[in-house]
This record gives sequence, structure tokens and C-alpha cells, in this order.
Amino acid sequence: MQQHNVLILDFGSQYTQLIARRVRELNIYCEIHPYNKLPKNSNEFKAVILSGSPSSVRSEDPPHPDLSEIRGKKPLLAVCYGAQYLAHFSGGLVGQSNTREYGRANLSFVKNDEVFLEGIAIGSQVWMSHSDTIKELPTGGLRLASTHDVENAAYKIEGEDTYAIQFHPEVYHSTDGKQLLENFLVKIAGVAQTFTPDSFAETTIRDIKAKVGEDKVVLGLSGGVDSTVAAVLLHKAIGSNLHCIFVNNGLLRKNEFTDVLKQYEGMGLNVKGVDASERFMKALAGLSDPEEKRKAIGNAFIEVFDAEANQITDAKWLAQGTIYPDVIESVSVNGGPSATIKSHHNVGGLPDFMKLKIVEPLRMIFKDEVRRVGASLGIDKELLGRHPFPGPGLAIRILGDITPEKVAILQEVDAVFINGLKDSGLYDKVWQAGAILLPVNSVGVMGDERTYEKVVALRAVESTDGMTADWVNLPYEFLQKTSNDIINKVKGVNRVVYDISSKPPATIEWE
Ligand code: XMP
Repeated sequence: MQQHNVLILDFGSQYTQLIARRVRELNIYCEIHPYNKLPKNSNEFKAVILSGSPSSVRSEDPPHPDLSEIRGKKPLLAVCYGAQYLAHFSGGLVGQSNTREYGRANLSFVKNDEVFLEGIAIGSQVWMSHSDTIKELPTGGLRLASTHDVENAAYKIEGEDTYAIQFHPEVYHSTDGKQLLENFLVKIAGVAQTFTPDSFAETTIRDIKAKVGEDKVVLGLSGGVDSTVAAVLLHKAIGSNLHCIFVNNGLLRKNEFTDVLKQYEGMGLNVKGVDASERFMKALAGLSDPEEKRKAIGNAFIEVFDAEANQITDAKWLAQGTIYPDVIESVSVNGGPSATIKSHHNVGGLPDFMKLKIVEPLRMIFKDEVRRVGASLGIDKELLGRHPFPGPGLAIRILGDITPEKVAILQEVDAVFINGLKDSGLYDKVWQAGAILLPVNSVGVMGDERTYEKVVALRAVESTDGMTADWVNLPYEFLQKTSNDIINKVKGVNRVVYDISSKPPATIEWE
């Protein structure tokens, strides 16, 4: 088990995950729990942070957990709604603010709290995002800082290690936000900065050994970063008792199945490659609705995987590459994942009939941490730097129905694009890239012949987590060469377009 260092109570803010990521950047372990489901071991945490919230303390039934076991007993930092909650329920006054309080503001200090405000410049930029404001401080409140529009931008409670701030230290626009978190967590709460990729790997390998013992574990490898890092951790813990299965659904990138399989074998993993392309093609025949395609692929995967897993006698565990954002989402304040836009997540993934116990070595870490753990385990840089690729693969990049011919065309187009990005040194600057085969034919001319062939769209986005994304301003010369290469090399395509939509409102994938 990781040490229980920092408890972040989530009131539903869009920034709660960012608080956790900033804390982790300080090499401090933290966990997010919904404000209304305090963990049983909350006593073991050394410090507590209250998040912001879309709610108002002035609403009819505002979130107001009983924090009597925490308040005044442990160092507490209340952010935004948290700060308003502390004021409103402890003798202060929160009202609607008269001015807009969104965006940048600058701090001025009212009282010098040496520890909390150390290293924070006077005039330091902070990020505000609230419509209520603290008009009167709670009992024992001491104002520490103000901004032009917000008198009570930071305060503390006399005689306690309880601090509250109206602004968001977790967003990058709060220039000294990370310093403030460090002051609170390290100097005031005395939390040790020992949560590093090496320490995570060491603890996790020890935990897996203790949990799994001599049992056999089955894991589905996808070629992606998460399942690969999960596999290597398990392999280090239990060696050949880890049985990996890598399924070719026929919807992978060109040559990906053979290339990645070889790489896995080279890493010493006990891996079986299963080519089930035909089965997936059959399951997809005639389907053009994206959600139906996803369902067909999901079901076919379960059947293939289950049949393979059953051949491993006495397998007791199923390992999954679930990461922390999936876990947080599934236990969120609202009690479940937010509205389904696309059904693409793997928490609770495989069906009960598999009767295997679940082991998820990455369930408490974020994507960037997975990469760093992977690097500390010595996994190849190229493998760790691979762009995310959706589970249903090219099936959701071929709009409409799927045929082997369309898959073959898209694989070629995608290979020209991705290899081009690699050759031009652009691949690592892009978070995710791919090509989309449109259900549109357009007129062209090749030689003296009229053509009537397919249109492909190229998509390249910058993002940190896939939740929001912007299109990448790829150099014109690169786009020009790529378009030429695609049209000259790939039979059946006579037009290339570049997608310049951001997410939101568009999503990354077209389906
Ligand atoms: P969207 O299209 O929702 O995608 O902006 C966000 C991220 O999720 C990936 N994605 C999927 N991943 N199964 C997956 O495993 C899916 O069905 C799926 N759909 C989208 C997408 O590639 C991007 O990284």
C-alpha cells in the first residue's frame, strides 16, 4: 500500500483532478474521494484539501459534510467552494459577488503568514473562477491576502492549521500555485516528498507479490502504454505466471500486430498473439452505427479473450490497465460517470462470468505518471511515447460500414501520415494523430482520366488528457508532402483534407 498522505475531498469541481496532479508533481501521494463518501481510513491521511464545486453554499441543499474529525485536527486547505463552505458553516457570510470574478487577478498580502505565503511574490497572478464571494470570515478567521476585487482571497483560522483560498492554486495560470501547495503540504503539514516513479514501482511490485502469490494472472495487451506498463510491473512481480494475450482484431495500424508482438517477446513477456481478424470482420459486417460497431467489437473481444483465457489452466486473476482518471470518474460525486458521449471506458470491463479476481496495478496513477513509471522500469522510449489509439481501432475511423478493403486503404493512409510525422520529428509534439476514411467520393483527375474516389481526413491534436484538445498547426510543407504521398501511393484515394476542429465542441475521433 502507498502511504496515505493527502486526502482530497471532491465537491465536484472540474479542477479536482488537477489538484491531485499538482500534488503528485510534488512527489506526494494523494487520493481523491467524493465529499459525501469519506474513506474509512481518513484518519491515516496527513493533510486534507477541499476542492471547488459547481454548487453554491447559498443553494437549498449545498454539499456540507461533517468534517469534525478533520477540522482543527489535521492541516486543512480549503479551495474556492471549500473556502466558502468553511466560512458559511462556521460563522462567516457568503454572498453573491458584485463583480465578475473569473480569470486572472493579482494577490496582495494583508498579513504576512511566513510559512503559507513563503516564496509567493507580491502581485503574484492567481486564477479566479467563482460567482459567490466570502463577505465575512468565519469565527477565528484571519485575512491573509486580497485581490483588487476579492477582499478575502486567502485566510487562515487562528490556532489551527486551517487555510482557505478563494483562487485555484491547481491551474497553471496561478503562477505560484504549486509553491503554495508545497508550502501547505510540506512546511505546514510535514508531508514527505517520497512518491516517485521508482518508489511506486517498488511498492507496487511488492504488493502484487503479496496479493497474487503463486497464482496465474491473465492480461490483455493492447499495444498501448497502460497495458504494457501494467504487464511489466506484473512480470517483475510474478514472472512467467503472468500470461499475456494480444488480440489482433484486424483493425490495428499497418503491421502493428507483428511489430508490437515482437517487441513484447523481446521484453521477455509471456505473450500469445491471437489473430482473430476474420471473426471481428464478420461481427462488423453490415453495421454502420458507431455505438453498434463498438458493441460488436467489445463482444467479439470478450469471446476471443475468454476462449484464450480458459486455455490457461488455473488462472485466478485478470489484470487490467485501468488508470486513476477512470477510477475517479466511476466513483465521482454524482455517483457515476458523467453523461455518456461515447461508450469507451474499461472500468468494470469484462463480464462476471469470467470469475476471475481483478488486479489493477495502475489504478491509482495518472497517465503521465504511467509513462514515468514505464521509463523507470526501462521500457523502450518509443513504446512509451506511442499516441493513444482507441480500442475499436480503425473501425471508428472508417465512417459507416467496415470492409476489409476499406481497412486496407486506411491502414496505408495512416502509415504514410504517421511515418511522415516521425520522419519530420513532429510525432512527439502531437498528442494523438490519425486518418479518417470518409464515406464520400469526390471527383479528381489523374493523368487524363476522371477519377471518383475516396476522401480522407487527417487529424492531429494537442492535449494533456484527451478531455480537451486543439488541432495542431502542422507546417504547410508537411501537409503538402503528406497529401501528395497519400494520393500518389494509396490507390482509391484522390483527396485529403485536414481537420481543424477543437474539442469541445468536436471530439477527437469522428465517431
Ligand atoms: P473522443 O473521440 O471522445 O476521444 O474525443 C477521447 C480519447 O478516447 C479515445 N477513444 C476511445 N478509446 N475506445 C477506446 O479505448 C473507444 O471506443 C474510444 N473512442 C475514443 C480517443 O482515441 C481519444 O484518445
